[in-house]
Amino acid sequence: MITTSLERAARALQGGALVAIPTETVYGLAADARNEAAVLSIYAVKGRPSNHPVIVHIAEVDQLDEWAINIPTWARALAETFWPGPLTLILPRAAHVGDWITGGQESVGVRAPDHALTLALLRESGLGVAAPSANRFGSLSPTSAAAVLEELGEYLDPAEDLILDGGECEIGVESTIVSCLGSAPSILRLGAITAEQVAVVSGLNVVAVDPSVRAPGTLAQHYSPRAHVCMEVNEKCEAIIALADVDTPLGMVRLASPDTAAQYAHELYAAMREADHRGYTCIAVIPPSGEGIAAAVRDRITRASA
Ligand code: TXA
Ligand code: MG
Repeated sequence: MITTSLERAARALQGGALVAIPTETVYGLAADARNEAAVLSIYAVKGRPSNHPVIVHIAEVDQLDEWAINIPTWARALAETFWPGPLTLILPRAAHVGDWITGGQESVGVRAPDHALTLALLRESGLGVAAPSANRFGSLSPTSAAAVLEELGEYLDPAEDLILDGGECEIGVESTIVSCLGSAPSILRLGAITAEQVAVVSGLNVVAVDPSVRAPGTLAQHYSPRAHVCMEVNEKCEAIIALADVDTPLGMVRLASPDTAAQYAHELYAAMREADHRGYTCIAVIPPSGEGIAAAVRDRITRASA
């Protein structure tokens, strides 16, 4: 089921099958966004509620107008500056964009992922693809092809569906989501693109995280391993994930020692997945301090501990 053949994957998408795709953030489970039955099969495979919207992935900024309308100049500037990259824009949907993509909302999420293999796949297939993270509903986003296989292997159709192996995801946490529905950008989910960067490029004040707009699917139960996550060292914990300058408490197993917040983002999900493989019931995951990607890492750790 794991493949490196681009053409085979492009034909699979065109035929309505699902293809797990590598991106710079996390792996996505992709379907032709114009094919309702194909997109609905994503929901079935993920076990995901149907009112959760999915992001449309495109290869070029030029394709944005195919999916969204009434695009503010500042939103276009964000796309031109950060795409391909870890930024999802929420915009008013074009007329053909179905409820099966938007979860019934009038808006659509769009992004161009920064991964050579997936950009080549998008170009080869000529499609926009709807793709949520390639995990079962409520569990950890996969950051490697092996993690996708572990999450979805038994739910994908081995005769039709594919997993495209693009190696480990460089960033490791999901894209920054920016709502462009108001007069200024508001951040719905933290990621590698920071609120400061969005403010500089848009020339507008940014609502750091808009608590009044809840993107369905950013629930606390997401991003969680089976193990209980403590944000402080706790004597019940069997293992620890923390920056390298945090010592391993006596008797605990070290699952990751990233040197920087960016490396922390890259390793976090794989380390929490490893905790589950080892059957731990409680792990200490110590949040990094600082801004930028550190804030996104803290956000995911906080959700995982909720
Ligand atoms: O980095 C990412 O964004 C990854 C990769 C695969 O691109 N995708 C991802 O998709 O994280 P997913 O479905 O796991 O999370 C997408 C989030 C959800 O919280 C969803 O509610 C929100 O985006 N979203 C999508 N369209 C939306 C819309 N029209 N309005 C509000 N939120 C939206
Ligand atoms: Mg997800």
